[in-house]
Amino acid sequence: MSHAEDHEGTRRDFLYYATAGAGAVTAGAAVWPLVNQMNPSADVQALSSIHVDISGIEPGTQLTVKWLGKPVFIRRRVQAEIDAAREVALADLIDDNAQNRNDMALDAMDQNRTLDEAGEWLVMIGVCTHLGCVPIGDGAGDFGGWFCPCHGSHYDTSGRIRKGPAPENLWVPVAAFVDESTIKLG
Ligand code: FES
Repeated sequence: MSHAEDHEGTRRDFLYYATAGAGAVTAGAAVWPLVNQMNPSADVQALSSIHVDISGIEPGTQLTVKWLGKPVFIRRRVQAEIDAAREVALADLIDDNAQNRNDMALDAMDQNRTLDEAGEWLVMIGVCTHLGCVPIGDGAGDFGGWFCPCHGSHYDTSGRIRKGPAPENLWVPVAAFVDESTIKLG
C-alpha cells in the first residue's frame, strides 16, 4: 500500500494535511482522534511509505503531514534552534534514548535525531509520549521547541522531553531524502 503525495509547504505551523479520506484537522490540545490507528499491523507498517515535497518549507517553520494515522512534524530548523539542541549534554536529558531512529540503538544527542548532518531537518512523530496529544510547535514551551498543553510537557528544539510528565522524547520515524526537495517517510 504505497503511494506518493505532493505537499505544498506552508509558513503555518498549524495546518494539517490529511491523506485520502480525511479532511483537514485543526491543531491544538485535542487528543489525536485516530487512536485506534496508531498501531498499524506490522505488514501495513512495513509497506506504507509516502513522499513529501519539502521545497516550500521555509527555515524556522514546520510542515505537518499525516502518515499511518499519525501526525508527522517536518521542521526546517534555523541555526539558533540547531545550536540550542546541540549544546545540551546527554546528562541533562530526562530520556537519553534517540527513540526509534531507524531502529538503531542511539543516544538522544541531537546529531542522532536529525535527517541531515548539519541538523537543519528534524522529522518526528507528532504524538506526545505521555498520553498521545499532539504538541504545539513553533517554538512553544519553556525550551523553545514543542509544548503539549494537555498535562504540560515541554520538548526542546530537538523534540526531547525536558519538563513535564511525558516519559520519552518525541519519536523519530524512518525517513530519508529521496532528492533535495523530497523526503520519504517509511
Ligand atoms: S498527553 Fe502530552 S502532556 Fe499528557
